[in-house]
Amino acid sequence: MTQELWTAVDAYIKEKMIPADAVLAAAQQNGIDAGLPPIAVSPVQGKMLHLLARMCGAKNVLEIGTLAGYSTIWLARALPAGERVITLELDRKHAEVSRKNFVMAGLADVIELRLGSALDSLPKLVEERRGPFDLIFIDADKSNIPAYFDWSLKLSRPGTVIVVDNIIRDGKVIDTDSKDPNIQGVRRFNERLATETRVSATEIQTVGEKGYDGFALLVVNG
Ligand SMILES: C[S@@+](CC[C@H](N)C(=O)[O-])C[C@H]1O[C@@H](n2cnc3c(N)ncnc32)[C@H](O)[C@@H]1O
Repeated sequence: MTQELWTAVDAYIKEKMIPADAVLAAAQQNGIDAGLPPIAVSPVQGKMLHLLARMCGAKNVLEIGTLAGYSTIWLARALPAGERVITLELDRKHAEVSRKNFVMAGLADVIELRLGSALDSLPKLVEERRGPFDLIFIDADKSNIPAYFDWSLKLSRPGTVIVVDNIIRDGKVIDTDSKDPNIQGVRRFNERLATETRVSATEIQTVGEKGYDGFALLVVNG
């Protein structure tokens, strides 16, 4: 099995289930044109996030890691009128591009972007009592996933869905000797999950246009 096949199957899924969408395509293109790295979720994955948000009836969504706001737009479109996504982004340029994308998507009133390190923004969200969130998508620097998980628990309620991206990393997650801080972050997160009784979790390996990776899916226990 090859990357070529995975990409072709993603194209097939898109053709059948994800109608062409000028706004999402422009949001993606604006990120590329601005020189942002091509590390957003794919359309198939964006729709998965959208469906998860709808499946859990999400009204209050938190995203950690905005980039150009592609996944944020998918999530925001899942919300009932009047509800909100808060998205956290460290990089000023990424924030500028995504803010323009939110205006272009007609979602500027739905999405609140907080610029700065997520590890500074998350305690503020707790202080401001902006939780509990119904769905939290963790997709920033992978070395901090364990810390983002801890803050997510503080911002959750029983039933909160937590999704974490990039937890398989071409299978490198099972490399016990890896010195890569991203792999080490994911592995420390998995060690936490192995004993954490406050959530039920699994991890799904994925292939597609973005290669071989995966998502962690968690629900906060009652
Ligand atoms: C994988 S990209 C997010 C992709 C986006 N969720 C999507 O799918 O469209 C990760 C983003 O996290 C941001 N980031 C990295 N470290 C961060 C930190 N400490 N706090 C907040 N954001 C951070 C990066 O600048 C980058 O824009």
